Amino acid sequence: MITGKMKINDVVKAYPKSIEIFNDFHIDYCCGGNDALEDAIKELGIEVKSFIEVLNKKLVNQENKSHEDQTLDIDRLMKMSIQELINYIIDTHHLKERNLLAEIDELINKVFFVHYEHHQEQLISLHTLFSDLRKELQQHFVKEEKLVFPYMLKNFSGDKSIDYVKSLEDEHDAAGNLIKEITACTNEFTAPEDGCASYRVLFQKLHELIKDVYIHIFIENSLLFKKYEGEI
Ligand SMILES: [Fe+2]
Ligand SMILES: [Fe+2]
Repeated sequence: MITGKMKINDVVKAYPKSIEIFNDFHIDYCCGGNDALEDAIKELGIEVKSFIEVLNKKLVNQENKSHEDQTLDIDRLMKMSIQELINYIIDTHHLKERNLLAEIDELINKVFFVHYEHHQEQLISLHTLFSDLRKELQQHFVKEEKLVFPYMLKNFSGDKSIDYVKSLEDEHDAAGNLIKEITACTNEFTAPEDGCASYRVLFQKLHELIKDVYIHIFIENSLLFKKYEGEI
């Protein structure tokens, strides 16, 4: 049963399908995952009680009926060791997002060139925001893989004097802010009427990237770091 007092990331842990609804309503379950659900709903200007009733109807009842089609297998992730979780993050999210960043980079240059005349305002902003996000993510992945993850594996039961977790969480927040700007700049990934197929594919790929980054940050902030800090 979901209540307004629950933390957003606890709702996701208990009901992974909530991710789809939270994405639709822009409820931030990765960087803002520690906030109470009712505060996030209030911020959207939605009546809390009825929203929670709908969530319970859609998620709790559905969850009881079927476990097969969950978006994210939280139970399996919770049981993983730190090493297994790190491998999972690198093999799924880092790999997928690196590929998407490369694909989008090529597409955005193509769309920028073809549609410059009619959509330069949107495309210049998007190109700048995407370049910033690509740089942030690529540097962040290397920092995790080369520095922080190996450090965590060596020190998970010992010295935690270097606060790498905080530095990664700050970088997640920075990426989260860029993602919000990209979402607004693309009108929530809706290509213009006169946009060609490449324009639409560009927006689909961006949307795919961003949904994956949200889940990725949630797994790191709410599972990996909590496990490392002995909270779960
Ligand atoms: Fe990561
Ligand atoms: Fe990360």
